Order: sequence, then structure tokens, then C-alpha cells
Amino acid sequence: MKHLTKKINNMTNFSSYVIKEYNCPKCHELIKVVRLEINGKVRIANRCKVCDDRELEKEALQAYKNHQISKRERLFNDFSLISQGLKKATFENYYPLTKNFAEAKKIAKDYLNNFKENKGLMFVGDCGVGKSHLSYSICQEAREKGISSIFISVPELLTQLKSTFNKNKNYAEEDLLSALKNVDLLVLDDIGADYPTEWAITKLFEVINSRVGKSTIYTTNSNAKELASRVGKRNFSRMMENTQIIKMQGNDYRLKNLKI
Ligand SMILES: Nc1ncnc2c1ncn2[C@@H]1O[C@H](COP(=O)(O)OP(=O)(O)OP(=O)(O)O)[C@@H](O)[C@H]1O
Ligand SMILES: [Mg+2]
Ligand SMILES: [Zn+2]
Repeated sequence: MKHLTKKINNMTNFSSYVIKEYNCPKCHELIKVVRLEINGKVRIANRCKVCDDRELEKEALQAYKNHQISKRERLFNDFSLISQGLKKATFENYYPLTKNFAEAKKIAKDYLNNFKENKGLMFVGDCGVGKSHLSYSICQEAREKGISSIFISVPELLTQLKSTFNKNKNYAEEDLLSALKNVDLLVLDDIGADYPTEWAITKLFEVINSRVGKSTIYTTNSNAKELASRVGKRNFSRMMENTQIIKMQGNDYRLKNLKI
């Protein structure tokens, strides 16, 4: 500033002097209030440089955070394949009707609270017990914690990969597979739901093998033996590595109002 003042002072019609000094009420730095007059125009410089710098730093950090949040949301929105009914599922609106369901909910919450890069979960159980609901809740809360996530229904994924992929989508198959590979947390919902073809097993292998060392959650109706035969040995072996199994046994929540 001094340097600049000297330089400008050599120009015509310029004057500057300190009219007041005080300590910034926020950071206590000494602020010099300078009266500047340039070609008849008077300006008063009365800002705290330290606070200005801090403010700028805060704004930059916030902009960076916003960018990261929108990147996570974009990834989730662009690549997740979720049935409409699940979109409202949260931990709060999962009401465990039995001890077993309460335990499953607790494991799901703990999993997220102690999130580790390479730990998996597998929810196993009959229809309507809340496997997808709890997995989806983990996915949602993960992003709030800065963990990117994608929730994908495996039958839906296979259908998409089978169909002429690029037609209606603004991304290519490689984009989808790369998103599934790189996301921090991937939910593969309803795995082993169908008897798969060789082609499906190979496609699944591309995804599952790319997740080795990362966190993946599976939900399935099948028991271990069934699952192994449906996804193939090599997929099954990778899926089980470092994966905690949660057995959910109980009534179908979808039928809770059904009286026969
Ligand atoms: N304990 C619960 N409290 C509130 N809603 C529940 C509960 N359990 C299940 N639901 C709701 O019931 C429906 C079925 O649950 P969900 O989709 O999680 O079942 P699922 O175990 O994944 O079954 P499937 O094997 O058929 O996929 C969902 O709409 C879910 O939100
Ligand atoms: Mg389900
Ligand atoms: Zn200040």
C-alpha cells in the first residue's frame, strides 16, 4: 500500500492520509482508516484486511464444499436405479416390529457411523422385511456425511445393460460401470433375484470385481447356496470377502394391513 501510495502520489491530484486508527472488533488487528482523494474524488478505505482475507477463505471453502456436494448428488441421481416406493425410505421411518428388525436397523446405522472403506453388508431375508429400505437409508445418510453412494437394483441394471444402452441415456455403458467402480458406497439391491445367463454373470463380475477393497451392500432373498449358484462362484467369493451378513426374518411389511 505504501509503495502504491508513493507511486500514485507522484501523479497529479492525489492525496492520502490516515484519519483514524482503531482495532478491528472482530480480530483486534489495527485498522488504519485512510482518506484518499484522487482527481477530486474522495474515498475512505476502512476495511480490515485480516477479516477480508478470512471471509474470502471461508467463501472459497464453501464453494469447494458445494461443488463436492453437487458432485455426490449428481453421481447418485444420474446412476441410481430405484423403485419409486423406496424413495422416501429413511432410518426415521423404518419402524422395526420385532427385535430382529431392530437389531438390523442398529447394524445398518452403526455401519454408517463407523464407515470403513472396504467393509460390506449383506441383508438376507424374505420379501418386504426392509432390506432395501435399510440399504437405501444408509445410502441417503452416507452422502450427508460426505460419502458418495449409488443405489442400484441388480435386475434393473442388467436390463439396462442388455438394452441398447445409449439410446435414452446421456451417458454410456462405460460411464455407468466406471461410476459403479469408483463410488465410495454401492448398494446392489436384489442380487440373485433371477437365474442369470452367462452374459449376466460376466457383467456382474465386471462390477463386483471392480469393487474389491471398496464398500458394497447387497440385499438378497436367496440363501448362501442359492446365491452362489445364481451369481456364480467367482462373484460369490468376492461378495463374501469382508462382508457382514444380516439375516432378517419376519413378516412382509407390505402385507401388514392384509387380514385373511
Ligand atoms: N419396518 C418398516 N417400517 C416402515 N416401512 C417398512 C418397514 N419394512 C418395510 N417397509 C416398507 O415396506 C416396503 C417393502 O420394504 P423393502 O422394499 O425394504 O423390502 P425388501 O426386504 O427389500 O423386500 P424384497 O425382497 O421384496 O425386495 C417398502 O416400501 C418399505 O419402505
Ligand atoms: Mg428389496
Ligand atoms: Zn478484523
